[in-house]
This record gives sequence, C-alpha cells and structure tokens, in this order.
Amino acid sequence: MMITPSILNADFAHISDEIAKVEQQADWLHLDVMDGHFVPNLSFGPAMVEAAKRSSNLPLDVHLMITEPEKWTSQYLKAGASNISFHFEACADSVALAAEIRKSGATVGLAIKPGTSFEQISDILPNFDLLLIMTVEPGFGGQSFMPEMLTKITTAREFISNHQLNIKIQADGGVNLSTIKAAADAGADVFVTGSVVYSADDPGDMINTLRKLIAN
Ligand code: DX5
Ligand code: ZN
Repeated sequence: MMITPSILNADFAHISDEIAKVEQQADWLHLDVMDGHFVPNLSFGPAMVEAAKRSSNLPLDVHLMITEPEKWTSQYLKAGASNISFHFEACADSVALAAEIRKSGATVGLAIKPGTSFEQISDILPNFDLLLIMTVEPGFGGQSFMPEMLTKITTAREFISNHQLNIKIQADGGVNLSTIKAAADAGADVFVTGSVVYSADDPGDMINTLRKLIAN
C-alpha cells in the first residue's frame, strides 16, 4: 500500500517547505501536469519537477494530463521523474510510448479517465507498471470521489491477478478519510491524496492516519 501525495493543492510560493511536510511519510510524490487543453486547467511543467527533485529524495510520480504526451516525456525524464503516467485518451500509440519511457529506466503508468472502460485498455495493460484509474474527472483537486469507479478498480484487480501481472493500481481523485478504505477494498494499492493532505494542519500526520485506515 503506497500513499502518493499530490502537491497540486500545496502552496507553490513555498514548495520546498510544502514537500518537506510529507517527505518522511509519503512513498512517492505525485506531480499533476496539466496543459489547459487535455484538461481545462493549467498547473506546471518540467521546471516544477526539477524543483521537486532538488528539494526531495522521494521518487517523483509524474501524472501527465496533456495532449500528445510523446512530445514531452523526455523533458520530464530529464527533470527527474521516476514514474510517468500518461493518458490513454491523449496518446496515439500508448504501447510505443510505454516502451520508450521504460528504456530510460523509469516506470510507466497508463492513466484512464472515468469515461474510459477497463475493457478498452486491458489488451495493452501488460506493457505498463501501473494503471492510474481516475476517480474524478481530471483537472482539479478537491473534487468528490466517484463511487461508480470502484467496480472498474475491482475488474482491473481481478484481471491483474488472473493474469499474474505485477501492475499497481493507483486511485486518483477524491481519495480522503471517508473514501480510501473503499478504494483499497476494491483493489487499489496506490493512493493519490491531494487536498486531504494539504488542507490538514499536519500533512505528514494525515498521511499516517490515512495509512492506518488501509492497514491489513
Ligand atoms: C486531478 C489530479 C489529482 C488531484 C488529486 O486531476 O490528477 O491528482 O490533485 O487531488 P484530490 O485528492 O484533492 O482529489
Ligand atoms: Zn493526478
């Protein structure tokens, strides 16, 4: 079970302090890249990934919510990404891009929006290390978890264990104190936590509390 806090709702004016608040408790740091095109919001680009690399020893988990991710992945790899997840809906050849990312030594995730079914991607899933299941419409932190995504998580978990694949399932969006257990029970093992962590008085403590909810 891994907790990967997203800095999207952190204070960008003090980003190294904000990262330090979760440095001891987080497994990876989740960085949400948005291009104002694939999603109706803009966040940050490779410079922020580089800044995170300089201020943290955590593996950097880069979630690209951008069109034509194949044009940009090399910049994020150079900036220090350990994992890159890109969207199936945004990429012309997801399998080729997965191979290219892996060649650099990073791991690769396939991200799917709520409207994309598991059946649409099951054939190509073995080419990935992680499946990122969006549990909100991508674009903004602080939205409500979509409970109807739980069956997609369960279907993915069954497929992965039936085929004896070593692929993580990451739930992203609206994961908080009241939803993390359901996502874990459905079969997720990596949890993006944005607003719940960065709105807490003690973000590190909040990660510990979340982790207790999914222990065992
Ligand atoms: C949404 C992003 C998420 C977001 C999570 O498009 O992919 O990673 O930052 O934030 P919360 O946990 O607040 O939903
Ligand atoms: Zn994300």
